[in-house]
Amino acid sequence: MKGIILAGGLGTRMSPLTRITNKHLLPVYDKPMIYYPIQTLVNAGIRDILIVTGGNNAGDFLRLLGNGKKGFGLDHINYTYQEGEGGIAAALSLAEYFADKDSICVVLGDNIIEKNINHAAENFRKQKAGAKIILKEVPDPERFGVARLDGDKVVEIIEKPKAPHSNFAVIGIYMFDNTVFEIIKTLKPSGRGELEITDVNNAYIRSGTMTYEILDGWWTDAGTFDSLLRASNLVAKTGANNL
Ligand code: G1P
Repeated sequence: MKGIILAGGLGTRMSPLTRITNKHLLPVYDKPMIYYPIQTLVNAGIRDILIVTGGNNAGDFLRLLGNGKKGFGLDHINYTYQEGEGGIAAALSLAEYFADKDSICVVLGDNIIEKNINHAAENFRKQKAGAKIILKEVPDPERFGVARLDGDKVVEIIEKPKAPHSNFAVIGIYMFDNTVFEIIKTLKPSGRGELEITDVNNAYIRSGTMTYEILDGWWTDAGTFDSLLRASNLVAKTGANNL
């Protein structure tokens, strides 16, 4: 399984912090934000990693991370560049060549976890085909993709629902088999003009090949002023990625 970190976008929600840098290079307590999703993949035994970035500061990722040896012990890191903004699924489509025929674990560059996803990754490796999402109960599900569950099945994901069916947010860590790239080619832009990762996940649900796990430990995004502060406070208090 290969790893893909989505770290593009213009970060307009966080201007002026993002006027001269990429959101994923902002500090979260004592490290740049991008360190956390890299560590999440490395902890899960994934060493072949692609970073999809964009905007005016893409070169700073290379300056910061280099070949991934320092800090992560990697042999190399792959980079690609997204022109403009088209949504998470549009960014992911740039990873088709890198993924080759392998399955992938996709991490949104602003998603940070306290512990690890090792159990989910182990189970997905056994699953062979389809997809896996990871859920976490949150007090504010209307900010996220929300899962409607029926027993041990997820039957639908609704993106930012006004009246959520559950408190289970779909966190920004997804595992897909290689058919994900064919699914993305069938998508139409949503109301916010983006190719939505939720539409990808719902396609897997309809085909009966979606599984889920519940995350152990805290999870937060860091893509708004409030969640960035929350992320820094959580990392300062407990550490992240089991470190
Ligand atoms: C995205 C996804 C959403 C998911 C969230 C996790 O939201 O669309 O389903 O729950 O990431 O961080 P966005 O950050 O684009 O608002």
